[in-house]
Amino acid sequence: ATAPRAEIFEVGPRDGLQNEPRPIPTAEKLALIDLLSGAGFSRIEVASFVSPKWVPQMADGAEVLAGIQRAPGVSYAALVPNMQGLERALAARADEIAVFASAAEGFSRANINCSVDESLARLAPVARAAQEADLPVRGYVSCVTDCPYDGETDPGDVARVVARLMRMGCYEISLGDTLGQGTPERVAQMLKLVLEEAPADRLAGHFHATSGLALENIDAALDAGLRVFDAACGGLGGCPFAPGAAGNVATEDANAHLRRRGYETGLDEGVLARAAQMAQAMRAPAAR
Ligand code: HMG
Ligand code: MG
Repeated sequence: ATAPRAEIFEVGPRDGLQNEPRPIPTAEKLALIDLLSGAGFSRIEVASFVSPKWVPQMADGAEVLAGIQRAPGVSYAALVPNMQGLERALAARADEIAVFASAAEGFSRANINCSVDESLARLAPVARAAQEADLPVRGYVSCVTDCPYDGETDPGDVARVVARLMRMGCYEISLGDTLGQGTPERVAQMLKLVLEEAPADRLAGHFHATSGLALENIDAALDAGLRVFDAACGGLGGCPFAPGAAGNVATEDANAHLRRRGYETGLDEGVLARAAQMAQAMRAPAAR
C-alpha cells in the first residue's frame, strides 16, 4: 500500500526570518529560498507585504520575489494585511497570498492595530480582489489556544474567525498557536469546534515551539484529520508582536516526525538538513 500523504508548508523565509534582529541581506534570503525550492515543497511563504515600519526585516519582499529562481510546481506565497499589501504582492507576482487575523483581541491590537472585527472587515475586500486577480487566498488565525495579552483563547472565538475566513473563500485556513503554549488536549478541543465550520482538508496546523509540545500538537491535529502543517527550516521564527513566542516547529523535525508516523511528505532530507544549517547561520549571533 502507498503511504498516506502529509504536506509541510514551508514558512521559514517569512515567519522564520521576520523576527530576526539582524537586517538580513536580500541575497541571503534568495540563497535560502533557492535551496528550499529544490526540497520538494509545493508551497513556500517567501515574503510579507506588511508595513515596513512595523516589520523592517520584510521590507524587501519585492526584491525577494523578483530575485528567486522559481521552480516549476512551487507556489511562492506572500502575507498581506490590507489592500496596499495586496497591490504590492500583485506587482511582485506572488503566486498566492495569505491574509491573517487573530482569534484574540489583545494580539490583534498589538499585531495589526485594530480589533478582530475591524480586521475581518478590512480583509474581505482584499480576499475578493485577490480572487478576481486569480490569486488563491490562504487564511491564518493567530492565538488559537493562547494570546500573549489575553491568556487562554475560547475555542468558540477561533471557530468564529475560521467561519468568516471560509466565507471569504480562503482555500485553506492555517491555525496558529502563535505563542507555542498549546497542549495536545487544548488543540484537540479547539479543533473539535473549528471542524464544525471547516472540513479537515481545508485546515492546516501552524505550531510554534516555545513549550516543546509542537510535535504532540501535530499529532493531535493528525488525529483530527489535518494533513497540512506549517514549519520553518532550522526552527527559525517568532512574532515581533508576541513577546515570549519562540520559533516555528522546525521543518526537519516535523518531516522526520511525519515520516515516523507513516506519512509520505515528498521532501528531500538532505536538502532540509542543508537548509536548516543555512537558516541557523543567518541568525544573529546573540540568538544562536
Ligand atoms: P497602521 O499604522 O494601523 O496602518 O498599521 P496605516 O494604514 O495607518 O499605515 C501606517 C503606515 O504604514 C502608512 O505609511 C501606510 O502607508 C503604511 P505613512 O503614511 O505613515 O508613511 N502601510 C504600508 N506600507 C507598505 N505595505 C503595506 C502597508 N500598509 C500600511 N501593506 C498595519 C496597520 C496592518 C499596516 C500594520 O500594523 C502592520 O503592517 N502589521 C503587520 C504586523 C506583522 O507583520 N506581524 C507578523 C505577521 S503575523 C504572524 O506572524 C502570525 C502568523 O505567523 C500566524 C501565527 O503564528 O499566529 C501568520
Ligand atoms: Mg507564526
